[in-house]
Amino acid sequence: MVSIITIDGPSGAGKSTVSIGLANLLGYTYVDSGALYRIVALETMQKKIAEENEDALVDLCKNLEVTFRTTNGKITILNHGRDVSERIRFPDISMLASRISARKAVRNQITALQRKIGEKGKLVLEGRDAGTVVFPDAEVKFFLDATTEERGRRRFNELTLKGLSISLEQVTQDIITRDHNDSTRSHGPLKPAPDAVIINSSAMTVEAVIARMMEVIQAKKKLGGKIEWIKVKQ
Ligand code: DC
Repeated sequence: MVSIITIDGPSGAGKSTVSIGLANLLGYTYVDSGALYRIVALETMQKKIAEENEDALVDLCKNLEVTFRTTNGKITILNHGRDVSERIRFPDISMLASRISARKAVRNQITALQRKIGEKGKLVLEGRDAGTVVFPDAEVKFFLDATTEERGRRRFNELTLKGLSISLEQVTQDIITRDHNDSTRSHGPLKPAPDAVIINSSAMTVEAVIARMMEVIQAKKKLGGKIEWIKVKQ
C-alpha cells in the first residue's frame, strides 16, 4: 500500500489544490507544511519575537497545536483552536515564512513534527523538502512546477479574490524572491528528489494533474514494495 505521498514545488504551482483533491480522493490525511512555517511566522510577528532569536522560535515550534480541518473540500487551519487560514496567506507572512524557514533550528522542529504526523501513514504532504528530507523513503513523490508568469497570475487571482489590493508585478516579484530564498538556502532547499515524478502544471487543469498523479500511484501500487522510477508522459 502507498502510505506517504509527497508533493513538493515552488509557490503558486498548484500544490495545495491538487494535494487536497488527491487526499480527498484517496481518503488520506492532508498536511500543508508551508502552513506550519507560515504559522510560526505569524506567531513570531504577533508575539514580536526577533527573527534571530532561535531559542524563542524553537519554543514557538514546540508549542504549535495545528489542526487541518476539511469541510466540503475546503481546508480550515487552526492553531490552538484559532482559525489562521486567511491571515497566514497575507504577503507579509509569506515573506517572513520564507526567511524563518531557512533557519536550521526551525526546520529541525517542523521536520520532526511532520514525521510524527506521518507515523500514522496514509498521508499526502505538500512542501519544499517533503520528498528529499522529511520522507526520503516516501513511496510516491511528485514535484509540481509551473512557469513564473503562471504562478504569479494564480497567486494574484487568489489574493485579489480575498480583497487584497496588490499588483500582479508585486506578486510575481515576491514569488521570484521567495523562489530564490527557498532554493538557495543550505537547509532543505527546494529541489526535486531524484526519484520524484515532475509535472509541469502551467497548461494543465487541476483535474488533469490529479488524474496524472493517480496514474502514477496506481502504477506504483501494482509494483508493490519499494517504488521504482516510472516515466510519465507529459
Ligand atoms: O508553500 P507556501 O508558500 O505556503 O510556503 C511558505 C514558505 O515556507 C515558503 O517560502 C517556503 C517555506 N517552506 C519550506 O521552507 N519548507 C516547506 N516544506 C514548506 C514551506
